[in-house]
Amino acid sequence: MMKRKLKVLSVIGTRPEAIKMAPLIRELSRRADRVESLVVSTAQHRQMLDQTLRVFGIVPDIDLDIMRPRQSLRQTTVDVLTGMEPVLRQHKPDVLLVQGDTTSAWASALAGFHQKTPVGHVEAGLRSFDLGNPYPEEMNRRLTDALASFHFAPTARARDNLLREGFSRGNIFVTGNTVVDALQLALRMPFEPRDGAIRKILDAPGRLLLVTAHRRENWGKPLAEICDALRKLVRQFPDLRVVCPVHLNPEVRQTVMPTLKRLDRIHLIQPVDYLTLAQLMKRAHLILTDSGGLQEEAPTFGKPVLVMRKCTERPEATDAGWASLVGTRANSILSETRRLLMDSSAYARMIPRSNPYGDGQAARRIVDILLR
Ligand code: UD1
Repeated sequence: MMKRKLKVLSVIGTRPEAIKMAPLIRELSRRADRVESLVVSTAQHRQMLDQTLRVFGIVPDIDLDIMRPRQSLRQTTVDVLTGMEPVLRQHKPDVLLVQGDTTSAWASALAGFHQKTPVGHVEAGLRSFDLGNPYPEEMNRRLTDALASFHFAPTARARDNLLREGFSRGNIFVTGNTVVDALQLALRMPFEPRDGAIRKILDAPGRLLLVTAHRRENWGKPLAEICDALRKLVRQFPDLRVVCPVHLNPEVRQTVMPTLKRLDRIHLIQPVDYLTLAQLMKRAHLILTDSGGLQEEAPTFGKPVLVMRKCTERPEATDAGWASLVGTRANSILSETRRLLMDSSAYARMIPRSNPYGDGQAARRIVDILLR
C-alpha cells in the first residue's frame, strides 16, 4: 500500500526567512516521493523578499501580499493571523514550518496553534535575555518556541536555552543553522554583478567596510551615531571605503540617506540580492552590522564582525573572539574599528577559523527528522 505523503507548509515573510528557508524548501522538494511541500509567502516584505526568492528559484504557492507602507507591528500581526487561518483550514498540513523571530513567524505559529497544526520552529532557542533588544524579535522567538511542537535549534547553546526553559528534550534537535546551507548554495551559483556600480565597489583598491543596520531599537539616534562614526572613519583612513546596502524601511532611509549621501568613499546602495551580498562579504575587510544573519554568515568568509547592538542572541562568534559587541555609540564604534584597522595582529586574532553556526547540512537533518 502506498504511504500517504507528509504535507509540509512552509511560511516565509521577510528577506532573512526566505534565505534561511530556501535550502529547506529545496530539500523538501527533493524528497517529493515522501513529502508534499507547499510554500506560503505572507509578503511582510515585498521587493526585498521577491529579490531573494528569485535567486533561489522559489515560487510561493500562496501569497498573502500583506505589506503596507509604514506597517505597524499590530497591523502585520493581524494580517498574518487573518491570512493564515483560511490557508491552514484549506490545506490541513501535517506540519507548519516557521523560521526565526519575525512577526510573520510568530503570528503564523499562533495561527497553527489555533488550527491544532503542529508547528516546527526553525532556528529555535536563540535568546538575548533582553526583551528590548532586539525588539520585538526576542519576544517573537520566545512566543514561537512556546507555540511550537518541534524545535530545530541551530547550536548546542540554543538547545541549552530551551532545556533551561523546560522544553522537553525529545522535541529539541540540534541541526545547525540553515543559513550556512543557503550560503553554500549561493556560492555555487554563477555570479554576475547586477550593475556596474557593484563591480566598481568590488574591484576598487583599498579596504572595504561592509555596513548594514536596520533594527527597530536602532532607529533614530543610534542610527545617526552609526552614520557619524562612518563619516569619521573614511576621513581618518584614506584607503577605506564603506559600502552600505540600505534597507527599504523608510525609518532607516530617512536617517541614513541625508547624512551619508554624496560622501566620498561611502557607497549607499539599494538592497542587494543574496549572491551580491555574498561577494561583498568576501571582498570586505571588516563587517559592521546589527543583523543576525550577517553575524552567522561572516565566519564562512573568515571575516571579523563588529556587532552594533547592546547584546546578541548569537554569542558563539563573540565567545570565540571572532566578533565583538560595540553597541551603537559613535565613540565605541569608532575606537574598536580604528583599533582593528591599525593593529594587524588584533585583526588577525579576530579572523574566524570555522563557522560555529552550522556545517551546511541543516536542511537535510531537519527533513530527516520530519520524516521520522
Ligand atoms: C523585519 C523583521 C525583522 C527582520 C527584518 C529583515 C519584524 C517585526 N521585523 O523588519 O525581524 O530582521 O525584517 O529585513 O518582523 N519595506 C519595503 N519593501 C520591502 C521591505 C520593507 O518597502 O521589501 C518597508 C515597508 O514600508 C515596511 C517597512 O519597510 O513598512 C518595515 O518593514 P517590516 O517588515 O515591518 O520591518 P523590518 O524593519 O523590515
